[in-house]
Amino acid sequence: MTDRLDKWLCDRTTFSRKDVKAIIRSGRVKVNGETASRPDAHIGEADAVMLDGKLIAANQHIYIMLNKPKGVVSVSNAPDDRTVIDLIPDELRRNGLFPAGRLDRDTTGFVLITDDGEFAHRILSPRRHVVKTYTATLRDAIQNGYEHAFREGIVLGDGTKCMSADLVRTDDPRRVIVRLREGRYHQVKRMFASLGNHVTHLHRDAIGGLALDPLLREGECRVLIPEEVSKITEEEM
Ligand code: URA
Repeated sequence: MTDRLDKWLCDRTTFSRKDVKAIIRSGRVKVNGETASRPDAHIGEADAVMLDGKLIAANQHIYIMLNKPKGVVSVSNAPDDRTVIDLIPDELRRNGLFPAGRLDRDTTGFVLITDDGEFAHRILSPRRHVVKTYTATLRDAIQNGYEHAFREGIVLGDGTKCMSADLVRTDDPRRVIVRLREGRYHQVKRMFASLGNHVTHLHRDAIGGLALDPLLREGECRVLIPEEVSKITEEEM
């Protein structure tokens, strides 16, 4: 697969497409040792691209684990709101970052932020069933029959039947662990609403086989190493 040089660089740096074009025209970019002058030159997988003498890695996608606080929205851009992307420090910022999956404004916990559209598609695809694990705090204590109802597939208020899900009790009868393999809008809250209960707080603990790092405080994030990225897709239900 090939890409235009300006797009290729734009996807792997923090420069805008316009800046990248100017940078290329000023002779700061070399492809396979030769100064590149055309933004529309084609770049393939085997080409070595250098900017100001530094090699830019070809497949340099980034995967960031964020512990989302309340009050922050899970979109890339919202002029009137603080977004998960606003929480990414400058040194990790680059073009094309987006949250792979949404949490509600009042939900806390693990949000994966990446610039890798294919990977995001894989973990969000309903056909792949990457498990998302949540801790839900309930208004009313868990009742007998909840686990069975989750296993059988909860029917939501609009008639949608959910896939089988796990519900696990904790020492606190108002706190439960929920493991879902699909991601419908407000799903956890709607599942409990259809049982006549109400979720007062929701926190995402894990995506696939990767748990939120307990050392990350709310609002903090860090880059994942490749072994951690693989753990995300390891666990499919
Ligand atoms: N289910 C919800 O209801 N809200 C979330 O943020 C995530 C899952």
